[in-house]
Amino acid sequence: MAEEKDRVEINEVVLRDGLQNEPDFVATEEKIRLADGLSRTGVRRLEVSSFVSPKAIPNLRDAADVLQGITRVPGVRYTALVPNVRGAERALESSVDEVNLVMSIGERHNLANMRMTCDQSLAQFKEIMTAIAGSSFFVNGTLATTFGCPFEGRQSVERVLWAIDIYREMGIEGITIADTIGVANPRQVGELTTTIFRHHPDLQLTLHLHNTRDMGLANALAAYDAGIRSFDSALGGIGGCPYAPGATGNVCTEDLVHMFHACGIDTGVDLSALIGLSCELPALLGHATPGYVMKAGTSDRVYA
Ligand code: COA
Ligand code: ZN
Repeated sequence: MAEEKDRVEINEVVLRDGLQNEPDFVATEEKIRLADGLSRTGVRRLEVSSFVSPKAIPNLRDAADVLQGITRVPGVRYTALVPNVRGAERALESSVDEVNLVMSIGERHNLANMRMTCDQSLAQFKEIMTAIAGSSFFVNGTLATTFGCPFEGRQSVERVLWAIDIYREMGIEGITIADTIGVANPRQVGELTTTIFRHHPDLQLTLHLHNTRDMGLANALAAYDAGIRSFDSALGGIGGCPYAPGATGNVCTEDLVHMFHACGIDTGVDLSALIGLSCELPALLGHATPGYVMKAGTSDRVYA
């Protein structure tokens, strides 16, 4: 039996990061069906949608309807991305368990994506934290472009630590460092993770990876070895930020789970159920998906 401290927690983000970048709108009932399937696979967190401007992300304009339609499974934390006070109000009306506040540490990507400076985003978050003070909502804060900004390049470690300090001072409990454009490498991930834990040994830290340059799984393993136990990933490996030029899919959930299981690391997730759901995605989206294991089968596959 694997020890709790060695276990990985999966935060499935296909319904948010995955669908936000799709060319076509996925029907609300299909999103609900997918969410319900994923809820039963053993993932610990499900990012169901985002409460952003419907003009910015038309694909997720049905966030409230999706949250209302899903069947909640005990033990799964239902979360949604929130950029501002308006988004937090909408998310709380939909009874999410958690809000995921997002700001890019690269100023120029934050302007492109959120149409706010970092100071303006932080002012919004401060207002949200004040409004929900004393309530039981879990607040996670994502730092997008942690490993590199599409307009400014590599970000300094000092800037990452600066942003983590500010989030924590506000009372944000969990923090996600995100490689929004898939430029991180395993050494960088390992070193940054070690540095963050040296400053914040008790931090609930999640890693959000994109596989744009095929370093996603290597980065995940480097992060695991440096102490991260919580990972964002998207079924089928789809996704990306529409406001980051060249962005492509998240690290693929079933490939990530398959790697951890092959390494003897427990995720609590039913891999065959995940693969089953992933095999339905191409028909749902109208195109092939980047995942490997759903095509190749698991590494213990043998042919007659
Ligand atoms: N949910 C729904 N509508 C919202 C909203 C929210 N969270 N925040 C603002 N709006 C609406 C306003 O009511 C206003 O509507 P109107 O034009 O009908 O009057 C309109 O959007 C513009 O509001 P404003 O406050 O000026 O926002 P903006 O145009 O400067 O955009 C954001 C700011 C943050 C709302 C927008 O950039 C956004 O949603 N970005 C998210 C992008 C994203 O999700 N990227 C991928 C994830 S990393
Ligand atoms: Zn992402």
